[in-house]
Amino acid sequence: MSDPTDEKLLASVPTGLFVDGRWVEATGGRRLDVVDPARGAVLTTVADASPADGLAALDAAHRAQESWGRTAPRERAEILRRAFEMVTARAEDFARLITLEMGKPLAESRAEVGYGAEFLRWFSEEAPRIGGRYATAPDGRNRLMVRKRPVGPCLLITPWNFPIAMATRKIAPAIAAGCTMVLKPADLTPLTALLLTQVMDEAGLPAGVLNVVTTTDPGGVTGPLIADPRLRKLSFTGSTPVGRRLMAQASEQVLRVSMELGGNAPLIVCEDADLDEAVEGAITAKMRNGGEACVAANRILVHRSVEDAFVQRFRERMGGFVLGPGDEPSTTLGPLIDERSRSKVDDLVRGAVREGAGVALGGEVPAGKGYFYPPTVVTGVRPDMAIAREEIFGPVAPIMTFDDDAEAVRIANSTDYGLVAFVFTRDIDRALRFSERLEVGMLGINTGVVSNPAAPFGGVKQSGLGREGGAEGIEEYLETVYVGIRDPFAAEVDA
Ligand code: SIN
Repeated sequence: MSDPTDEKLLASVPTGLFVDGRWVEATGGRRLDVVDPARGAVLTTVADASPADGLAALDAAHRAQESWGRTAPRERAEILRRAFEMVTARAEDFARLITLEMGKPLAESRAEVGYGAEFLRWFSEEAPRIGGRYATAPDGRNRLMVRKRPVGPCLLITPWNFPIAMATRKIAPAIAAGCTMVLKPADLTPLTALLLTQVMDEAGLPAGVLNVVTTTDPGGVTGPLIADPRLRKLSFTGSTPVGRRLMAQASEQVLRVSMELGGNAPLIVCEDADLDEAVEGAITAKMRNGGEACVAANRILVHRSVEDAFVQRFRERMGGFVLGPGDEPSTTLGPLIDERSRSKVDDLVRGAVREGAGVALGGEVPAGKGYFYPPTVVTGVRPDMAIAREEIFGPVAPIMTFDDDAEAVRIANSTDYGLVAFVFTRDIDRALRFSERLEVGMLGINTGVVSNPAAPFGGVKQSGLGREGGAEGIEEYLETVYVGIRDPFAAEVDA
């Protein structure tokens, strides 16, 4: 990184922990390295929190909860709205930072900033709409009053693949609901979260509402928080194995949990699909974020009668991606996040070949610096192969065939995951039959992208619990309180 604009940007990002409205150093002054995945070079360092720092952040969140929970919804809405305007005004800074620390091409980072900012706007609009009801009991006597109140201090754990959007998708509904929070962003991409924190502070968020700890010791820092009775909710986005462990820990305090975990999305191309639309949809579903998304198409199921035509066009489109550092204008596919991810992707491709699959494109780790992996198409994949069972998280498209819809549904559902599926067909009844049979939380029909701040994002089976975004998203941060009231006419004295 030698661009003076980027150097200036990096120098402007706070690198401490944010606790009780102040930037502070980690205990003992410990720092962690933030690495550019395109060049393998250290960009900067940020504070590396200890368990004691994590607890200090929870102390602050706990202290702030009572008064924050009583603020007017409109006040919370206006802070979120201001934050939306400020993130939008600084979109280019956020985009450059995302590309520097996460690697995706600038165009994709810009799209992510728009997506992430929309969560701030959406939940600014949801805050004043927190509902309740007052009803008469069925026997006509007592009254039933139901109201909502904030859950309380939350721990929000966010991943590296969408450094701003996954943070705003949790922070914004928590703020809208009146919860305080400790945010622990991924140590691979902490800078975007730190800049976002600065913006939230400047937007007027009171001290203690949002506290941020960056750390290389995630278990050591989050464990004591999850065990602390002052914490009332845990929201996590990440892998299913880590989610399972966190849920086990959270069960000790019977914490409210939201889990947005792994996926193994099937993308089904029927023989009656518009093939150009299906190819474009598959490219989007596979290659958005370089395949590093839990909603990425992980298995492409093509009707046998259109396999050759689909593979030929899809391979051509995949071959058109330009691999390189995300900040170079010609790049359309950036590096993977680190060497561990790249080795996993490469092992899956090599394993598939050993099990009898063919490589129609890519499949070779390029020489040189950075964690690059080329766009890869693997054909002749069977449902029992590891590449069809595990989340790939890279630019690799395994292609399988099916003969009828029942077989497509059987293959699609033969996984522990249930996040999203995509179906391409011109027949609306057929699409709706798929929507009723596929075991997923989300379905895209003739589209390769379902993510939308106004829609409930989340999965079934081992893809998680709860929903983020949409009208459902704020409910994850609200408790329902019922008040039973004696019949107000019981004591009425006739005049
Ligand atoms: C994820 O990969 O975790 C989220 C992707 C999205 O919001 O589209």
